[in-house]
Amino acid sequence: MNSGHRFHAQTLHDFIQAIFRQMGSHEQEAQQVADHLIAANLAGHDSHGIGMIPSYIRSYSLGHLQINQHASVVKDAGAIVTLNGNGAFGQVAAHEAMALGIDKAREFGIAAVALHNSHHIGRIGYWAEQCAAAGFVSVHFVNVVGNPMVAPFNGRDSRFGTNPFCVVFPRKNDFPLLLDYATSAIAFGKTRVAWHKGVSVPEGCLIDADGIPTTDPAVMQVSPLGSLLTFAQHKGYALAAMCEIMGGALSGGKTTHQETLQDSADAILNCMTTIIINPELFGAPDCEQQTEAFAGWVKASPHADDAPILLPGEWEVNTRRERLEQGIPLDAGSWQAICEAAQQVGMSEERLQTFRQRLGC
Ligand SMILES: NC(=O)c1ccc[n+]([C@@H]2O[C@H](COP(=O)([O-])OP(=O)(O)OC[C@H]3O[C@@H](n4cnc5c(N)ncnc54)[C@H](O)[C@@H]3O)[C@@H](O)[C@H]2O)c1
Repeated sequence: MNSGHRFHAQTLHDFIQAIFRQMGSHEQEAQQVADHLIAANLAGHDSHGIGMIPSYIRSYSLGHLQINQHASVVKDAGAIVTLNGNGAFGQVAAHEAMALGIDKAREFGIAAVALHNSHHIGRIGYWAEQCAAAGFVSVHFVNVVGNPMVAPFNGRDSRFGTNPFCVVFPRKNDFPLLLDYATSAIAFGKTRVAWHKGVSVPEGCLIDADGIPTTDPAVMQVSPLGSLLTFAQHKGYALAAMCEIMGGALSGGKTTHQETLQDSADAILNCMTTIIINPELFGAPDCEQQTEAFAGWVKASPHADDAPILLPGEWEVNTRRERLEQGIPLDAGSWQAICEAAQQVGMSEERLQTFRQRLGC
């Protein structure tokens, strides 16, 4: 396989689903995890796509990730509900939490759903898209418990996770507006992808173990480890801190501090507090017209032909369209690591070879 290889999305999905079935997941769980990971790659967020598989398998073998497990309600206070993810696949627990929150928002007009102790919930935009597909606005505050890799503003070592923040706004006749990003200058997974590809990351994203700025992604992969910086200096740091508190503390989960440090980087535990709102219930008859007028107004700003003005979420829509047509690109290092993970869970060389042939590599 050369570095320019592209994989057909559905065929790759079949392979990913087979890996989780081989690991012991029931059919539906294997499908939900594969759906989510492939959707992240299709959206262009390879950092949260199938490249996570080796880490998930290590987490399972270390006893952190619980397969065939579900979220359970800890407290139901009507419009506010708290769930324990029970260490389940985040792709299962977050789906269940969003489904319950959507039901609550239908009933009450607004709902807050808190999920703690879930394994990695991946690309947060996926959960926002679940809310938007039901016609709701949603806001998501997320923390990563005890896995610090981001330095506070002015700090020189890692004190918290890449704490993503996400907002979605559905539109009647177009794609939902979607803000979805890590509060670190770049997602950790993007340093992994850059490291596999042997390329640098942009300036202003990393410091090394001595707190010196660097563009070498190896400082996030090889000891002594450095740190990611937050985006937008003190502003990004403040948002990251609020994601930690809103996501970790308010959800009934944990924040990152000395007592909650995880012994393995593969034990990715997420907490998420989500606010889901029915936009129909505001006294805003012009909301749609005002939204579209603003979208057209900003897009009309003069710009270079090769640097279009995009709305939040549009980059993902464009990337999805392109990858459904052209296939999902994957570097050789990530592909090798996924194949090794498949063998680790017991997939035979013969079966692996069949998938390789179907995928054309
Ligand atoms: N589960 C976790 O613990 C965790 C942690 C960190 C990140 N994540 C996920 O990682 C993914 C990647 O995060 P990231 O920080 O690398 O995202 P990113 O830097 O690629 O930013 C993505 C956001 O920027 C918007 N965008 C991109 N280009 C644009 C343009 N030209 N104009 C306007 N808007 C534009 C996108 O629509 C999207 O809202 C996200 O899906 C996030 O949820 C998850």
